[in-house]
Amino acid sequence: MSELKRIPQHVAIIMDGNGRWAEMRGKDRSEGHAAGVEPVRAALRAAVRNGVRFLTLYAFSTENWGRPQAEVDALMELFCQCVVSEEEELVRQGVHVCMIGDRSRFSEKVRAALSDIEQRTADGKVLTLILALNYSSRSEITRAVRQIARRVEAGELTPGQIDEETISRSLDTAAWPDPDLIIRTSGEQRLSNFLLWQASYAELWFPEVLWPDFTEEEFDRAIEEYARRDRRFGLVKGK
Ligand code: IPE
Ligand code: IPE
Ligand code: MG
Repeated sequence: MSELKRIPQHVAIIMDGNGRWAEMRGKDRSEGHAAGVEPVRAALRAAVRNGVRFLTLYAFSTENWGRPQAEVDALMELFCQCVVSEEEELVRQGVHVCMIGDRSRFSEKVRAALSDIEQRTADGKVLTLILALNYSSRSEITRAVRQIARRVEAGELTPGQIDEETISRSLDTAAWPDPDLIIRTSGEQRLSNFLLWQASYAELWFPEVLWPDFTEEEFDRAIEEYARRDRRFGLVKGK
């Protein structure tokens, strides 16, 4: 951590406001999602430039399946297109793409595209990009509890041995540190089932900007805001 400016090691973004951005322009909501790709590139560039090591993007929640089928289909198509269009640049920047969420519900085509990008970027050392796809915190925790129960059933673990570490290590995010900063665009001030366990001590930042209008400067502003925050983790400062 820099003494001059505190940089969050892990930034997570709830990319919200695509639909409103499109509706304000009399466009289809899907066009808002398409317009949300360039800001992803901007966030990545800004994260790399600032020395952020982990960037998690909430791209599709388990609840988002309930949207109109045409919108869901357009999002799935967009994920597949992006895997192809972004690969070269991701590799060039040293970005390693990973995923959290339950991918079993995706079509074979989407699953193949996701595995492909994970494999092709596996050598990236500069930044880990974690895509939350068919993700929700409650579903992740439910899957983790099932996994722990199976270990208890198998005699690998006693109930008394289950501690916070056991739970953290059973979540999809086991390999990475908790987010230091969570940004949600579009002015909404809620987490919408995102990283509820991992966000315990995250700083939260809610800019008004709609996701398609998000820029590198907006990311820098969030980093500056984070540097001003006084993280106490329940302790008393200086003691
Ligand atoms: C976020 O934008 C993107 C996804 C949920 C996939 P929204 O589509 O939720 O945009 P609003 O909130 O309707 O404006
Ligand atoms: C959260 O946004 C999910 C993503 C950004 C992928 P939503 O737009 O789905 O959340 P709500 O409905 O406003 O809570
Ligand atoms: Mg929304």
